[in-house]
Amino acid sequence: MKKVLKFSVVVIIIAFIGIQFINRPVKITTTEIMPGHITKVMSVPSNVENILKRSCYDCHSDHTVWPWYSNVAPVSWLVADDVIRGRKKMNFSQWDKISASKREARLNEICEQVNSGEMPLEKYLYIHTDAKLSQADKDILCQWIEIELKKLEEDDEDN
Ligand code: HEC
Repeated sequence: MKKVLKFSVVVIIIAFIGIQFINRPVKITTTEIMPGHITKVMSVPSNVENILKRSCYDCHSDHTVWPWYSNVAPVSWLVADDVIRGRKKMNFSQWDKISASKREARLNEICEQVNSGEMPLEKYLYIHTDAKLSQADKDILCQWIEIELKKLEEDDEDN
């Protein structure tokens, strides 16, 4: 029995080492603010920007802070998957790529997602406790969104 146990532990250790070499995620990140960044395309007050930075940028921008465990498979695969899917859905670093009509929908969704507690993802908050949004944070986001939506509507009327 002892032998079987020893053998299993060795197999698990070898497998763990082995998976470190496969499917290593490509981890893109930058501190550069490109012209398409949301803060360049729209007026984003600093208190709003701080909330987005603190709670959303890791998955919804090119400024991801990759934690140490994002180097260790299989956790690395899960972290990278969230970032890739998050960026694909909405990337604050490439806000110019979202068409004007879609921007409206995205802004509405941001307010909905934070108020329903779906964003930031719960599993993320286990570790990033400082990313948890207070009611005041949610109100700041939604009030800013309301102002931006009005602006978009007025732009529509002008054209
Ligand atoms: C840990 C990663 C992570 C964090 C942090 C995060 N998101 Fe997301 N978010 C995702 C993923 C992954 C999806 C895509 C879900 C899907 O494909 O259904 C998503 C989707 C969304 C969507 C689109 C929802 C939909 O139904 O289409 C919005 C809006 C959103 N997030 C807003 C936010 C906001 C605002 C924050 C910060 C307060 C935030 N997210 C923080 C990972 C994250």
